[in-house]
Amino acid sequence: MDEHQLTILYVDDEPAIRRLVREFLQQQGYRVATADGVQPALAKLRRKHFDIVFTDLKMPSGGGLELLTEIKRAHADTEVVIVTGHGSIETAVQALKLGAYDYLQKPIKLEKLKLLGSRIAEKRHLELENRELKNRLAQRIQTHRYGLLVGVSEPMQAIYELIERIRDDLPTVLIQGDSGTGKEIVAKVIHETSRRGRRPFVAVNCGAIVDGLLESELFGHKRGAFSGAVQDKAGLFQTADGGTLFLDEVAELPPVLQVKLLRVLQEKRVRPVGAVEESAVDVRVLAATNRNVEQAVADRKLRPDLYYRLNVVSIRIPPLSSRREDIPLLANHFRDKINRRSHRRKTGIDRAAMDALLRYDWPGNVRELENVIERACVLGRGDGIALTDLPNAIRSAAAAPSRQESPLVSLRENEIRLIQKALRQTQYSKKAAARLLGIDPSTLYRKIKRYGLSLSPNR
Ligand SMILES: Nc1ncnc2c1ncn2[C@@H]1O[C@H](COP(=O)(O)OP(=O)(O)OP(=O)(O)O)[C@@H](O)[C@H]1O
Ligand SMILES: [Mg+2]
Repeated sequence: MDEHQLTILYVDDEPAIRRLVREFLQQQGYRVATADGVQPALAKLRRKHFDIVFTDLKMPSGGGLELLTEIKRAHADTEVVIVTGHGSIETAVQALKLGAYDYLQKPIKLEKLKLLGSRIAEKRHLELENRELKNRLAQRIQTHRYGLLVGVSEPMQAIYELIERIRDDLPTVLIQGDSGTGKEIVAKVIHETSRRGRRPFVAVNCGAIVDGLLESELFGHKRGAFSGAVQDKAGLFQTADGGTLFLDEVAELPPVLQVKLLRVLQEKRVRPVGAVEESAVDVRVLAATNRNVEQAVADRKLRPDLYYRLNVVSIRIPPLSSRREDIPLLANHFRDKINRRSHRRKTGIDRAAMDALLRYDWPGNVRELENVIERACVLGRGDGIALTDLPNAIRSAAAAPSRQESPLVSLRENEIRLIQKALRQTQYSKKAAARLLGIDPSTLYRKIKRYGLSLSPNR
């Protein structure tokens, strides 16, 4: 860095010293101002930022220690060097305790002044680099959210990538995951990031509607189609026209309706109950299930042809307990969300509480976590969320001796994961990935072939 950009304020009551030092430091390329006492120095500091202040310790108008204290209070990133007469080492030590960067003894040796200047410049440089690094990291963390979704774990990142990749193609997607893992919110994000995002998103739970009504609910009905059908009614397909229909618990769909749904997906036309004519609809379908679909197909609960039609792209959201690294982020995300609609803001989640959240097994997954945080925000009395604000089951998880280790995976699986990670991190450069892994490019290439790994992000 260009240390000559540094600005220095030199404070001394003796004009001759001020002049000498100023000229010297200017020759070194610093921008230098001087002041003859504490008050004028503070006035200059209020108007302008200085990187370094050299101040005499004893001046008639007040001491350098006062100046130091005030600078550390009001201009924390200005470094202060105290200049002392001989024999006042104790005061110099006190100055260091108060936050001075260093001290210089009088008579001033210009070489020492120069040395201190460049040491502080170097320190500044490092601090700046550090700050930039932190900013860059903060930006990376930003990629740990995607639309409404929050999560840093690899499976979540893979889901973000997938959603990004399919946003223009609008395929049907089958989303699988245990209860509360986030199937519906994933569907919403798939819809919102697509070019249909401004059109309707309509969700229907196929398991929650009485059998007889589901058909009319989905496809609409004509007046008089059945008793109670007093007027024409549009179905959810018509409501979602131009947008997305989310079929939750799709494996619960009765067999007859599975056939009808398949037809609608193929023909892009629907026939309301009691109608003679079909009419065209333009609806993208996303489906979800929290049971094992392959099993549902094997059990003949779900028609295989419908399954293939829905499962063009498949997303599996793992349970929260197998991606614990998402817990802190999600917990704080929900805290923020609740803060926004409450007058009592929770400032944070304390260590013990977070430890407990990290250890607990979350059978209800993300939804359970959201409820726990909401409860803690509403019932807790402190400024932040503490262990005592959490339900018993979670508190006792904290008391358990040690967190359950994640299940052991085979070396092969670990190796595959590592290689994939290295490839991703190097934008699929085999050479760079091999370097990252500390192996030969040819070895990496063999492994890629052996494991049938993809060499581009688009598979
Ligand atoms: N990754 C995530 N980021 C932010 N919020 C999430 C995430 N996952 C889940 N949530 C929130 O958790 C709650 C439960 O998610 P959602 O309703 O999508 O789960 P689900 O899988 O559909 O559950 P169920 O099977 O019970 O219907 C919702 O409030 C949702 O907004
Ligand atoms: Mg759901």
